[in-house]
Amino acid sequence: MAMQNRFYVFGNWKMNPVSQEQAKAIATKVRNFSDKLEKTEVIVCPPFPFIASVKSRELPKNYHIGAQSVSSSVVPSSTGAVSALMLKDMGVEYVIVGHSEERTRGETDDVISTKMNIVLENDLTPVLCVGEKERDESGHYLDFIKNQINSALSKVSKSSAKDIIIAYEPIYAIGASLPVSNEQIHEMNIFIRKVFGDMFGVQSAMKLIVLYGGSVNASNSAEIITGGKVDGLLVGRESLDPINFIELLKQVDATNRI
Ligand code: PGA
Repeated sequence: MAMQNRFYVFGNWKMNPVSQEQAKAIATKVRNFSDKLEKTEVIVCPPFPFIASVKSRELPKNYHIGAQSVSSSVVPSSTGAVSALMLKDMGVEYVIVGHSEERTRGETDDVISTKMNIVLENDLTPVLCVGEKERDESGHYLDFIKNQINSALSKVSKSSAKDIIIAYEPIYAIGASLPVSNEQIHEMNIFIRKVFGDMFGVQSAMKLIVLYGGSVNASNSAEIITGGKVDGLLVGRESLDPINFIELLKQVDATNRI
């Protein structure tokens, strides 16, 4: 379960690397370094087949395993599906839900809302990804994000709200060369909390863990945390290179926000 006053850095490996051996090599370096961090939780999110490979008998307290997705089906006759129960049994603690790359492959708001509930019911922490495709002067992108949050959390009870993490990931910044500005991240951080607060109350909104994702690297990570006032980062490409990812973790851990 997520705690306040900690930074959360997720490494979303997407459909990488190509072998178990490479997965183990990346995870071992990150895991060994995690122990040295004072205020940062590290969550490695490998593809399903490598979940077992990134574990070890002794895990540092601040090193966790996340999944990039979960099935919305609870029917055992679901070919190709991976259930929340299976993930839990493998030691997974966090699950990314509604990443834009899954939405692009056809995941609907309804499916995302079902997944949010399944994840929460199984005592896993969902990381709900939201973000606009583009910006417009009349502010339609704000409605777009509000609708994504309202719809994804429509079936969530107030008592489960404390277990949710939301990642702001503007689609045009994912896999790009630069993140969006820190002002934009800060503004969206406030907006997301406001929408969440309207659903679950101000107290829940203040405690909500908000992440930013999209072209984060070691050089921009600390300023995104301080300037965007986010609680953590969802990192794609840079999480596959253990040297860069470890440097990024160091930078985040050294910031003075907490
Ligand atoms: P990126 O991906 O860091 O490679 O831009 C971020 C994400 O998709 O979560």
